[in-house]
Amino acid sequence: MIEIQQLTKVFGTRPAVDHVTFNVQPGEVLGFLGPNGAGKSTTMKMITGFLSPTSGGARICGHEVTQDPIAAQRCIGYLPEGAPLYPDMTPTSLLRFVSEARSMKRARAQERTDEVVALVGIGSVMSQRIDTLSKGFKRRVGLAAAILHDPEVLVLDEPTDGLDPNQKEEVRKLIRSMAKDKVIVLSTHILEEVEAVCTRAIIISEGRVLFDGTPAELRARSATHGAVALHLGNTQAEAASAALSGLAEVGRVEVLEGSPGEELVRLRAYAAGDAPLLHSITDLARSKNWDVQHLSVERGSLDEVFRTITTQTGAQ
Ligand SMILES: Nc1ncnc2c1ncn2[C@@H]1O[C@H](COP(=O)(O)OP(=O)(O)O)[C@@H](O)[C@H]1O
Ligand SMILES: [Mg+2]
Repeated sequence: MIEIQQLTKVFGTRPAVDHVTFNVQPGEVLGFLGPNGAGKSTTMKMITGFLSPTSGGARICGHEVTQDPIAAQRCIGYLPEGAPLYPDMTPTSLLRFVSEARSMKRARAQERTDEVVALVGIGSVMSQRIDTLSKGFKRRVGLAAAILHDPEVLVLDEPTDGLDPNQKEEVRKLIRSMAKDKVIVLSTHILEEVEAVCTRAIIISEGRVLFDGTPAELRARSATHGAVALHLGNTQAEAASAALSGLAEVGRVEVLEGSPGEELVRLRAYAAGDAPLLHSITDLARSKNWDVQHLSVERGSLDEVFRTITTQTGAQ
């Protein structure tokens, strides 16, 4: 549905998007991640035909965007960064305008407007000027305009940016509800969003793709993924650390808290290989009669992985 081949955009002498290649299939929700200035918006503008590539190309539903932009844009709903809208229009007049620009037949436009208004929940503000709406409502109006023609492909540039946590959750719910039969590409720099709504994540930095996989695979790259955190009440850091290090499954032990002589220790044991640590550590704790106040297998930190991937210079 979306096929991107060696897509490149050079501004001046600097490539903002540098030979980006990926495909997206129906049912996939692709999270496009990267630091500010990574090239996310520029990539989306080229996918949606708002910016022509320096080289490479994008096909949307079989239509080459630069050669047949109208056919490609018919398949696409696009929410640009910041979801710009005409401030002095009302949602009613905006959706009418969009339906006319999309050459939708009257009856179809009315039917879809009713569906979309119900879906995004803007029924109560339809005749209010857009500049008087809250950010959350504005974003929903933007989404309504993007999906009015029922596109197969949705491109959403930072759809939850600037919203409060409740509004963020509402927009995410909306995206999830549309995911089943569409291809959705959304950009974000919020990592929790990727796990909340995406089936796949691509990380770009300085215009290049540095990671392409599932959110779970992304998290699994974290140094703390699978490590066991342990708080003990009746033992000393050195003794506990030595005992844990003695286990075959344990690679290294980090003392997070616990001064010499003190009997409250917080430790983290890292796996030596792929073998899970939990059972051998609980067995050890039992045999040593440790007062275990907390024990957990860590899931890993997406922030840490993101930082590691995007700060590796020249990494591929
Ligand atoms: N029209 C433009 N002219 C010159 N440079 C641009 C233009 N648009 C974007 N850039 C530059 O391209 C890079 C990528 O920008 P952008 O795609 O907006 O990143 P992101 O959306 O990931 O934050 C940035 O360095 C930005 O300054
Ligand atoms: Mg952007």
